[in-house]
Amino acid sequence: MTKRTIVSLPGDGIGVVVLQQAIRVLDAAGFKADYIYGDIGWEFWCKEGNPLPQRTIDLIEKHKIALFGAITSKPIDEAKAELISELQDKGFTYSSPIVGLRQLFNLDICVRPCKSYKGNPLNFVRRGKGNTIDEPMVDVVIFRQNTECLYSGVEWTNPPAQVHQALMTHPKFVENFGKVPVNELSISTRIFTRTATNRILMAAFEHAKKYGYKSVTVCEKPNVIRETSGLMWKLAKEIQKNSFPEIKLLNTNIDAQMMWLTKNPEEYDVIVAGNMFGDIASDAFAGLIGGLGFACSAQFSSDGIAVFEPTHGSAPKYAGYEVSIVNPIAMIESACMMLDYLDEKKISSKIRKAVADVIEEGKVRTYDMMKMTGRPDVVQNGAASTSQMTDAIIAKFKIT
Ligand code: NAI
Ligand code: MG
Repeated sequence: MTKRTIVSLPGDGIGVVVLQQAIRVLDAAGFKADYIYGDIGWEFWCKEGNPLPQRTIDLIEKHKIALFGAITSKPIDEAKAELISELQDKGFTYSSPIVGLRQLFNLDICVRPCKSYKGNPLNFVRRGKGNTIDEPMVDVVIFRQNTECLYSGVEWTNPPAQVHQALMTHPKFVENFGKVPVNELSISTRIFTRTATNRILMAAFEHAKKYGYKSVTVCEKPNVIRETSGLMWKLAKEIQKNSFPEIKLLNTNIDAQMMWLTKNPEEYDVIVAGNMFGDIASDAFAGLIGGLGFACSAQFSSDGIAVFEPTHGSAPKYAGYEVSIVNPIAMIESACMMLDYLDEKKISSKIRKAVADVIEEGKVRTYDMMKMTGRPDVVQNGAASTSQMTDAIIAKFKIT
C-alpha cells in the first residue's frame, strides 16, 4: 500500500476531538498515511484576521486530500469584536472558511450518504399495518450541487438601478413587483449553470452505477421553478437516456419529498438536487438515520481536490467538556468515504463493519444514542464517551 499524505484540518470545538478519533481508527485499521496539520478556524480569525490562511490553502493544493473536523462561525459583528486589539478596525471582515474552501477550490460536488445501521436506537420507525412498528432501512446517497443556487451570494437589498432596470424587463416582475419601492426589495438569486448541473448529475448517475443503486431521483421543483429546476430535470433526462439507460430516473418535488420522507424513505437510492434543496433533503434524510452524530459528507472539485467532513458543526457547548461526549461516527464515516475515494475499500469495509457491529451489539452508545441531554455527567450515567466509542470500534478489528 502506498503511504498517503492527508491534510488534517481539525478546526474548532468538537471538530478537533472527532478528527483525532477518526485518525486513531484509520491507523488501527491499517491505513498508512502521514497527516499534515493545517490551520483553519476561529483561532486564526482572531489572531490573524483570516480563518483560512494562505498556508492552509497551499497545503490543500499540494496534497489534494483533506479530512476536516468543523469550524465555528459567528455573525460579522460578533466576529469583529473577537479580533485581537491590533487587528481591530483594520478592515477585516469575517467569512466562513468552509464556504471559502468550497469557492476557492470549486468543490462543487457534495455527497451525503444516509444509511441506517441495524440496531441504532435513533433509527426512524413508522406505524405499519395493524399497528405494527416498521423500521425501514434507509440507504440514500444525496448529491448536492455545492457552489451555485441560492448560496452563490448574488443578492441585494435595495438593489442598484441597473439590477432594478434589468428586472423590469421581465413581465412577471413588472406585474408583481413593478410598483414596489426599490428600497423595499430584497433579492437572492438562484443561479444554475449548465456545466455545474451536468457535473452533479453525472456524479450522481456514476455513483448509482458504480455502487449498484437502481434509481436516481431529481429532487427539485421544475413545475414551478422552471428555469433552474427545469434545467436540471431536462439535463437529467438526457444523461439518463444517452448514458445510463439501465438506471431509473425519478422526479420528486422537494416539498412532496419532505412529506414522503417518513412514508417510504427506503424506496429512494441516489437523490440529486441543487444547493438549497440538496441541503434540505440531506438534513432531512440524516434525521432518519440518527442525526448529526451519523451524518457524513464529501466534497469534490473538478481538478482532483477532495475534502471529507462530518455534516455537524463545532458544537461549542460540548467543546469544553473534560471528557468529550460527542459521537465520533459521523467523522469516522467521513474518513471511510475518503478510503473509498482512495480505493482502499478493504479498509473502509473493515471500519464500517466494526461500526455496524458496535451499534448492533448496543453495549457502547454515546449520549445521543442513549437519548440523553448532552450534560457532562452522561458518561457517569452510562453513555460512552467519544474515545470509548472509538475504543469499541477499534476493539472489533482485533476480533475479525
Ligand atoms: P452543531 O452541529 O455544531 O451542533 C448542534 C447540536 O447537534 C449540538 O449541540 C449537539 O446537540 C448535536 N451534535 C452535533 N454534533 C454532534 C456529534 N458529533 N455527536 C452528538 N451530537 C452532536 O451546530 P450549531 O450548534 O448550529 O453550530 C455550532 C457552530 O458550528 C456554529 O459556529 C456554526 O456556525 C458551526 N457550524 C459549522 C459547520 C461546519 O464546520 N461544517 C456546520 C454547521 C455549523
Ligand atoms: Mg445543512
